[in-house]
Amino acid sequence: MLIAPSVLSANFGQLDQEIEMINSSSADWFHVDVMDGVFVPNISFGFPVLKQIKKRAHKPIDVHLMIVEPQRYIDEFCIQGADSISVHLEACTHLHRTIQQIKSLNIKAGVAINPHTPIHSLIDIISDIDLVCLMSVNPGFGGQKFIANTYKKVKELKELIIKSSSKALIEIDGGVDFENAPLLKEAGADVLVAGNTVFSHPQPSEAIARLKNT
Ligand code: DX5
Ligand code: ZN
Repeated sequence: MLIAPSVLSANFGQLDQEIEMINSSSADWFHVDVMDGVFVPNISFGFPVLKQIKKRAHKPIDVHLMIVEPQRYIDEFCIQGADSISVHLEACTHLHRTIQQIKSLNIKAGVAINPHTPIHSLIDIISDIDLVCLMSVNPGFGGQKFIANTYKKVKELKELIIKSSSKALIEIDGGVDFENAPLLKEAGADVLVAGNTVFSHPQPSEAIARLKNT
């Protein structure tokens, strides 16, 4: 199981220490949530923060774009240090073109889908992508309650990936905790994003290790 702590829940007053904690933990990726206040009802951060994370991070940076018209900013996110970029299916009129744009930068390309978006909408893109970011909360905020319908979607997605001989990893994003992590693993998840479970823990690196050993 790969673990991607969500920097959104970190303490920005001591970002360097938070990055160091992730570096020295058993986490696999940095998960970086970019919100524009249009696609989602919240604004997080953009290029300067990503640049700062990149300076110190010793692990791949997984950028999750919760923004409209992501194709306008993909090149710059790559320049600023993204190792993978996920765009929302719901935000892309020309999703195939946007995925090709990400791949042309030689970084991993992902598609994120909201809780209401059915797995079958990925049928014609699944063979082209490296990652599916399955939202298990409505995007916009950390610390929300996990939506149980996600288990069924993970299983369905796993079947689709196998049937299509796709290499896509299944990443679960939102409300991941110690209770649902083993069930998500059993259903077929490959990557768990965790914000609140990691950063509200008295020992964040222990929380990461516990999720890792799910
Ligand atoms: C939600 C973000 C998530 C979020 C996860 O819009 O995409 O990555 O930060 O945080 P938790 O684990 O607290 O739900
Ligand atoms: Zn995210």
